[in-house]
Parts: sequence; structure tokens; C-alpha cells
Amino acid sequence: MRVLVLADDRWHPAQAAREGLAPLTEQGFTFDWIENAAEWSAERMAAYPVVLFVKSNNVSASDESLWMTEEVEAAFVNYVRRGNGLLVVHSGAAGYAQTPVFRALMGGVFVSHPPQCPVTVEPQVGHPLTVGASPFTLPDEHYMMALDDADADIFMTTASQHGVQPGGWTRFEGAGRVCMLTPGHNVEVWLHPSFQTLLDNALRWCAAAKRTAFVTGADRGLGFGLAFGLLAQGWRVFAGQYMPEWPELADLKEQYPNDLRIVPLDVASVESVQAAAQAIAAQIPHLDMLINNAGVSTHTNPYTIRDPQDYAEMHRLFDINSLGPLRVVEAFLPLLDRGTFKRLCFVSSEAGSIERSQRTAWFGYCMSKAALNMAVKNLFNFLRPEGYTFRVYHPGWVRSYMSGQKNNEADLEPDDAAAYAIPIFVNAREDEDRLALVDYQGNEWPW
Ligand SMILES: NC(=O)c1ccc[n+]([C@@H]2O[C@H](COP(=O)([O-])OP(=O)(O)OC[C@H]3O[C@@H](n4cnc5c(N)ncnc54)[C@H](OP(=O)(O)O)[C@@H]3O)[C@@H](O)[C@H]2O)c1
Repeated sequence: MRVLVLADDRWHPAQAAREGLAPLTEQGFTFDWIENAAEWSAERMAAYPVVLFVKSNNVSASDESLWMTEEVEAAFVNYVRRGNGLLVVHSGAAGYAQTPVFRALMGGVFVSHPPQCPVTVEPQVGHPLTVGASPFTLPDEHYMMALDDADADIFMTTASQHGVQPGGWTRFEGAGRVCMLTPGHNVEVWLHPSFQTLLDNALRWCAAAKRTAFVTGADRGLGFGLAFGLLAQGWRVFAGQYMPEWPELADLKEQYPNDLRIVPLDVASVESVQAAAQAIAAQIPHLDMLINNAGVSTHTNPYTIRDPQDYAEMHRLFDINSLGPLRVVEAFLPLLDRGTFKRLCFVSSEAGSIERSQRTAWFGYCMSKAALNMAVKNLFNFLRPEGYTFRVYHPGWVRSYMSGQKNNEADLEPDDAAAYAIPIFVNAREDEDRLALVDYQGNEWPW
């Protein structure tokens, strides 16, 4: 994505933004820079889908004269109304209290800041703009804001000894989008992983580019709930379809015609998995999150070792539950490599925990989930150093269709189970360097 950056003013030389945006070039962004406002023109701006605005109202750091004329204000409003995006960061909100048209476009302006102090950035949990970002505290100028637009969607606050302020908001203007992020005087803030994620999310949102996820086994049960829940949170979802005759995904497609893409998928077949990866690669430049959800149980679960064993059936479970996710990771890795998010999620089960096992049978299912856990550990060892993050998850006892028909005896409706799972899958964790089997209540299970 090509982004035009307007930077450099008396108090904020462009250097912090240049250093702060440099890592994002590896995530598919190309930044072109205007530091002297004399180089700006409406025509030049029109060539970009998004402007990142980090420039107070000076021509440049060395020329403090004001540059935001009424004509420039009008050009920005026209630019956004035509369907483009404006991301304003920190100093971009300063110096425009007296330019009412540009101020209205932003939805509010900077008023003042106390001397630098520890500022806690608190992204709102569950908001599409904050996906993957966690709270953090760093020294910064704590921007006190005048928020004019009562309809602005505040997704983040900033807090310090001087109080709590809106730290991030979005608004719509015509066909376009405006996003504000008020932290960022110091390059350390820009380079914080959560702020990088916020910038990444905000640029994509401004360009109406959504985060992307692929969910396997999405026809029904938990997989369908995950697809539905992610769509509702603004994701673009590729849904692996194993049962074309089952109507739920087709119905959901009517609700989300652009953001839901249905892809045939049998995780037991290398050809099918590779074809799915190719079909998705033809539609998007990268994938953010892969959820390996598809799984099967079996009517042979009750067979103890005193019953005749059905080894073919055990092979089937192993092929789908253990090898299926490995096939999918292998095929989708190139697409995930090109993204920034790099999140690999695996729906395992408490049944895979050897230490806590009290079952006396269920060989195929339990062994297949334990084998899955081992596969994930080895993937973690290899891919974590490349920036991948992992979730191994027990979803609880879900009223799904594992027995062939809906199990109404169980605890959780699939939609509720998905509502538990989604924040665990998408939110950042403090300890990404440790792999853990976590259940829907956030409890950790022993392997
Ligand atoms: N339900 C629970 O209480 C529970 C507890 C712990 C863990 N889990 C795990 O949660 C995950 C989701 O299961 P669920 O409870 O939502 O069951 P579900 O309702 O049966 O959903 C699983 C989906 O995966 C599909 N699938 C089966 N074989 C496939 C294949 N080869 N390729 C692609 N998709 C395939 C299933 O189709 P078919 O219906 O045709 O098989 C079904 O649509 C599974 O990994 C399961 O092991 C479930």
C-alpha cells in the first residue's frame, strides 16, 4: 500500500516518524515523504489511497510560516470525501485549532500538553482498530485534546498523572475515513510493538483494507461461530467449506457479500489444501491469521482396550485432527509470511492433555489431539523466531455437531464459544515466547 506522509514542523522534525515507520515498510507499506509543504499539491496527494499526517501547521522545521490555507483545507476534505483515508498522528493534530474546516475533518484538535511524563496508551479491547495491540506505558507528551465530533468512535485512551484523554478515534467523511492517534512525540513510542500494530491497523482501516483470517471447518459448530464473529468485528474471512450442502455459510455470505469468501477445503487432502491456498493467494496479498479448527470425533470413542479396535477409524482421526493442521500451515505459510500479524491458532482440546487425562478409552481422539499439540510445539520452535505467534486452544464443551447431530447436552452454543475464543486468538499476549494450551476461560492446561 502506498502512503503519502506529510511530516516535519518546528517541534517535530520528520526523523521520529521516519524511524518509526521504517519497520512497516517490511509489512507491505511504501512511504513517500513530503517534508516541505511547498512540495504538496492536491494532485500529488490524489495519487495515494492514504495520507499519514504528522505535520503541525508549519511549512517545515526550518520555515515556521503557516501553510494550511483555506484552499489546502478544502483540498483535504475533498480528498477524503472521494473515498481516501487520512491518518493523523500526534503533531498532525497540533496547530490547527484556527483552521475550522481541517479541524472539523479531524473531528478535534490538540489543545495542550504538560511536560513529558509516563503516558499509558490503552487500546479498547475488541475494537477492530486495536486488534493485536496491548496497553503500554512510555514517556511521551500527553496530548490534551478537544474532541469536537460527538459521533467519533473512540477506540483508545491515553492516561497519565494529568488525567485520561481520548487517544485514538475514527470518523467518516463522505466516502472516506479519518483516524487519529495522539501519542508519538518520541520514536520509542512509534517503535513500540503495540504502536506499530496500531499504525498498521489504522493505515489499513483508512485504506479500507481489512485484516484477513482463514478458518478451517467453518460450515458449522465453532468454525462457523468464529467466521461469523470475526466478520462482525470487521475481518475479511476465508471460510473453509467441507460440507457444501450445509446452508449456514451461504446464508452468511448474503449478510457479508464482500468480506466472506467461501473456499472448498478438505484438510485430509494435500491437493485440496493447496488449491485453497492458491485460491486465496489470488485474492489477497497476505493472510493475517490462520485458525485450524476443522476436526472430527468418532462413534468408536467408548471402545476400551477390551473391545475390538477400529484402527482405520483411528487413522482417519489422526489424518484430520493431527496431520490436517500441518498440511494447512505448510500450504499457507507463504501467504502468512507476507503479513505482519503472523498468528497461527489451533483448536485442540482438553482431551489432548496427557497429564490431566482420566479417560479409559477415546484412543483416536485423545491421541490425535496430543499429536496435534506436539506438532504445534515443533512449529512454535521453528516459527516463533520468525515472528509468528501461536494459540493452542480448548474451546470448552460446545453444542456442535461432532457426533453427527447437534449436541444440546453441552455447555456452550457455538456463537458463545466463538465469543470466548476470538479475543484469545486476536489479542496480543505478554508472553508470546511461551507456548501454552489455554481454555476458553483463560486457564492453562498441562500438556
Ligand atoms: N465440541 C466440543 O465440545 C469440542 C471440545 C474440544 C475441542 N473441540 C474441537 O473444536 C473444533 C471444532 O469442532 P466443533 O465442535 O465445532 O465440531 P463440528 O460442529 O463437527 O465442526 C467441525 C467442522 O469441521 C468439518 N470437517 C470434518 N472433516 C473435515 C475435513 N477433512 N476437512 C475440513 N473440514 C472438516 C466438519 O464437517 P463434518 O460435520 O462433516 O464432520 C464440521 O463442519 C474441532 O477441532 C474439535 O476437535 C470441540
